[in-house]
Amino acid sequence: MHVTGIDGRPQYVEKAQELVSLLGNAEVVRQDIRHVSDEIAPPASFDLVHARFLVSMVRPQEYPAILTSLVGRCRVGSLFAWDELEFPITNSPACQAFYALIQAGLKAAERAFSPGEPLGITAMMRRWIQEAGCSITLDAASTIEISSGTRGRDAFAWQMWRLRKQIRSFLLETGVIPGAAFDELCSQAQREIFSDNFFGLIYVKNAGGE
Ligand SMILES: C[S@@+](CC[C@H](N)C(=O)[O-])C[C@H]1O[C@@H](n2cnc3c(N)ncnc32)[C@H](O)[C@@H]1O
Repeated sequence: MHVTGIDGRPQYVEKAQELVSLLGNAEVVRQDIRHVSDEIAPPASFDLVHARFLVSMVRPQEYPAILTSLVGRCRVGSLFAWDELEFPITNSPACQAFYALIQAGLKAAERAFSPGEPLGITAMMRRWIQEAGCSITLDAASTIEISSGTRGRDAFAWQMWRLRKQIRSFLLETGVIPGAAFDELCSQAQREIFSDNFFGLIYVKNAGGE
């Protein structure tokens, strides 16, 4: 078995390269998922292509072409699998305000998947996979518990801290919030996430086909 991993951010790729360096059967390559090289990932050459949590710098209208490209890397009869998640459902006002701001920023930048409050990408996955040429054989949903007292809570707090840094300049550019107010909101969200009464759940969709 040989595994090829791709990501677009140099610092993530370098870290992943370090992690797989001793395995001997895995490589991690920097690639823009919108333009994957046929030399790195030749068409019809993989027994499994697994895409996870692509939402960030990719626009909704770019997904159909990306999926066609990824599905095209699968050998005939092999599996394409794709996981995405929605914004968390929590009882933290600051957390909910944080994700509402992201949605407002996505709308302002004409990058939103949905005109409403949810992120909305999970509703589109099945159709896009089919349109990329797959017959759906995998269609499941699960949840990640992030309430206080679970392991998921700490991982969620850490992810949100990282997301805060990644999304700050985007939100400031779109004008949905001033910097100082955003920083205060993020600090408040961290306090609420670490309270004993924090409840939260993340919905994850797993879809794919042959
Ligand atoms: C939420 S993280 C998911 C990381 C990883 N796929 C996983 O499942 O844990 C989103 C990743 O997408 C990467 N990314 C965003 N836009 C990209 C692009 N155009 N091409 C390749 N990677 C991209 C980011 O660098 C980031 O690592």
